[in-house]
Amino acid sequence: MVKRAVALIAVLLLSTTGTAAAERIKPLVVGGTLASAAEAPWAVVLTNKAAVRESKRWCGGVLVAPDKVLTAAHCAGQAASSYGVIQGRASLTDLEVGRFSAVSKVWVHPKYDTENNRNDFAVLTLAKPMTGVPVLGLETSAKADRRGVVPTVYGWGNTSGTGPEDTLQKLAVPDLGDATCAGIDGYTENGYTAAANICAGFLDGTGDACQGDSGGPLVLNGRLLGLVSWGKGCAEPRYPGVYAEIAPVAKTLLEQVR
Ligand code: ARG
Repeated sequence: MVKRAVALIAVLLLSTTGTAAAERIKPLVVGGTLASAAEAPWAVVLTNKAAVRESKRWCGGVLVAPDKVLTAAHCAGQAASSYGVIQGRASLTDLEVGRFSAVSKVWVHPKYDTENNRNDFAVLTLAKPMTGVPVLGLETSAKADRRGVVPTVYGWGNTSGTGPEDTLQKLAVPDLGDATCAGIDGYTENGYTAAANICAGFLDGTGDACQGDSGGPLVLNGRLLGLVSWGKGCAEPRYPGVYAEIAPVAKTLLEQVR
């Protein structure tokens, strides 16, 4: 009897361990660390009235001029009046901290393609400019995206339990080079393009951007290198994050920013 119970417990233990390994909690910004609003003043949260979260957190964004926020096109498909922008609030429960502005206009890149995620860029015009807040400059050199550099991604998105919810996190994500993502199952089919994307993160699933980080900044050397765009799951081993590369579209975006 005792023997049987011991055997049963052993089987149970084995099966739970097995499940735990298979459904391992995926650390952004799984696997990141806390960031302060002061170190990333240009990082903003895009809120949406339709967002299910209590904080209304929807996507990330980047302040590129006092009245202009760059975000992902896939974050900006609704009417301007449904969005808001929060700056300077690392923890979204601190309702008295930071600034808020309504959005008066949404521009989506005319060549944004929902089939292949190309040109995943939108520019929001703020009803109330965030004067005095440092803005982030755009990277204009296509050579900045190369294997071996280590940009940092910022966002308030899902952490898969690796950090508090709705709190600004950052994570240094190695640039793996275009060849890495082009060689990943499904990534080319999903639209990964060397000239327009950045492949960054960890092949062992250490950390990644995640849902809610989209449109947020990937920063290298004080310039905006890319925006969080897509990935298979979050921090899945063998599936790094895909970012929309700024340099090839910098001219088009800057026309919207002046
Ligand atoms: N599309 C997601 C969003 O709307 C973020 C995708 C980033 N995913 C990733 N695994 N890097 O927030």
